[in-house]
Amino acid sequence: MLTVRRIYWPAINLIGPGCVKEIGEEIVKLGMTKALFVTDKVLNQVGVVKQVTDVLDASGISYAIFDDVKPNPTTKNVNDGLAMYKQEGCDFIISLGGGSPQDAAKAVGILAANGGNIVDYEGIGKSKNKSAPIIAINTTAGTASEVTVNYVITDEVRKIKMVMVDPNSMATIAVNDPELMVKKPAGLTAATGMDALTHAIEAYVTKGAFPLSDALALQAIKFISHSLVDAVKNGNDIAARSEMAWGSYVAGLSFSNCGLGIVHSMAHQLGSEYDLPHGVANAILLPYIMDFNLDSNPKKFAEIAEAMGEDTSKAANELEAAKLALDAVRKLSKAVGIPALKETSFNPDDAAKLADQAMRDVCTGGNPKEVSKDDMIAIYMTAYKG
Ligand SMILES: NC(=O)c1ccc[n+]([C@@H]2O[C@H](COP(=O)([O-])OP(=O)(O)OC[C@H]3O[C@@H](n4cnc5c(N)ncnc54)[C@H](O)[C@@H]3O)[C@@H](O)[C@H]2O)c1
Ligand SMILES: [Fe+2]
Repeated sequence: MLTVRRIYWPAINLIGPGCVKEIGEEIVKLGMTKALFVTDKVLNQVGVVKQVTDVLDASGISYAIFDDVKPNPTTKNVNDGLAMYKQEGCDFIISLGGGSPQDAAKAVGILAANGGNIVDYEGIGKSKNKSAPIIAINTTAGTASEVTVNYVITDEVRKIKMVMVDPNSMATIAVNDPELMVKKPAGLTAATGMDALTHAIEAYVTKGAFPLSDALALQAIKFISHSLVDAVKNGNDIAARSEMAWGSYVAGLSFSNCGLGIVHSMAHQLGSEYDLPHGVANAILLPYIMDFNLDSNPKKFAEIAEAMGEDTSKAANELEAAKLALDAVRKLSKAVGIPALKETSFNPDDAAKLADQAMRDVCTGGNPKEVSKDDMIAIYMTAYKG
């Protein structure tokens, strides 16, 4: 039976080539006067910041640029950003980038509206007031942080990544303009694209899935499997970049409303222990965990195979059709250059420790099948043997 659901979605969503040009009009309509522009140095150097400031300049909108956000943003980045927000008399935030600037901006927005220290907000729903308005402009096609209610900040004192799940942090306007994504290097395109595919596949089979999240996840799988190779091979292929923007966006709307599974739980540990890029860690583990989860819902895995372009009509039964989804993911990973686990700095002696941490990860509860620490150790080791 369909149960009560609360669905979170940014109020305004702009997507498609050139759509960033529309933000000037939206800002004027919302009556906001000065933005803190939160981004990182690379995006400033390669000219992506200018693509957006040209739009602001043409609309006469004031802004102060804070481009100090580091990959995996820290409490210091947040405090520095907040200081600039206050000093410059800002009343809204424009975030430009992948997950790092998006998450730093959410943290600044929550502190601007609620006061206190960002460590006070670790956990679920800790703030009282809605964040200062955020216009979240995504430049990768991956984390989908521009549409989620989550943000992750590294506490430099405790040396941990704090996860905040807070609907008050959601952006007011989410922007996905593929023209801002053409300068993304091939390796980054592959990694972030496989992250988006993992969001879609995990969302499609997660315990919390429901008809709307299913529709979004399946469509995301189609977009991503159709266009990722082209986007990696030719960064200027705007049709492929557009489909990747759509894929990551609809995957984000799906998983942020239904949850993920143990690909993310186990990949998070590879990221924090060996600094593996998040999308690469996901892509490496994805087929092994799909194999583990396959019998929980062979019908859905067979549908994933079809969405990825596999011909399931000749499969002897549903389980055989479901297995084609694994083949499709392996082929895609190979085509975009994802390495094997044994080619990374993963140390098999760490498997038990990583499994222990992954069992406590926030995503584990969403896995479609019950999982034990021993199961996770076995998955790490199977992936390592290749
Ligand atoms: N909020 C969430 O829901 C969520 C989900 C997953 C991960 N995260 C967090 O997001 C962060 C990682 O985000 P990420 O993987 O998107 O990477 P990122 O934002 O750290 O960016 C990685 C690199 O790519 C560059 N880059 C981004 N877009 C580019 C473009 N268009 N052209 C050229 N270079 C570009 C950046 O400048 C940066 O150097 C981590 O802190 C992680 O914990 C958040
Ligand atoms: Fe992810």
